[in-house]
Amino acid sequence: MLERPPLSLYIHVPWCVRKCPYCDFNSHESKTGLPEKEYVELLLDDFVREKARLNDDNQLVSIFIGGGTPSLFSGNSYSYLLSRIEEQIPFSRDIEITLEANPGTADTERFAAYHDAGINRLSIGIQSFDDRCLDRLGRIHNSDEALSAIEIAKQVGFENFNLDLMHGLPGPIIRATL
Ligand SMILES: C[S@@+](CC[C@H](N)C(=O)[O-])C[C@H]1O[C@@H](n2cnc3c(N)ncnc32)[C@H](O)[C@@H]1O
Ligand code: SF4
Repeated sequence: MLERPPLSLYIHVPWCVRKCPYCDFNSHESKTGLPEKEYVELLLDDFVREKARLNDDNQLVSIFIGGGTPSLFSGNSYSYLLSRIEEQIPFSRDIEITLEANPGTADTERFAAYHDAGINRLSIGIQSFDDRCLDRLGRIHNSDEALSAIEIAKQVGFENFNLDLMHGLPGPIIRATL
């Protein structure tokens, strides 16, 4: 019999502070606040329904919380969500749990709470370290805030993180004059 592939879970959080004009993802500006508690409960309902159809007793080896901007939700929400998921499917000892974070939402308390909740990898949406590019992309952060998000992630104990960077952005090529 064929061995089953490792079990992974993707969780989507569709809200953002502002919709970036280039973004193709299922993501929307939150105009009326975030229904954080209700959404977490709906995610769990959905998960329990799907789990009932899953004929697999493997452990979870990875969870990816993507968006949208999952870093708009609190560490408490993820702590609750992850513990309820683990009651249904055991986590492997070296599970990787990633959360996508926008540098415009970074702060020490928030990132520390993610770490405490068991999230052990951040994927930080830097895009560029050039303020002119960030401006053109309509990002909610500048390059200093991008650098600061990386520092905060390190300070609160993240040893594993990814930085999203874009290349080949349209716009004038800036040449150094000799
Ligand atoms: C779904 S976003 C989540 C991260 C977070 N919302 C942020 O923007 O900081 C993940 C990444 O997708 C990339 N992305 C967004 N729109 C894209 C597009 N149209 N083509 C390629 N990559 C894109 C960006 O680099 C972004 O960081
Ligand atoms: S913040 Fe991220 S998910 Fe939201 S619109 Fe911008 S690139 Fe897309």
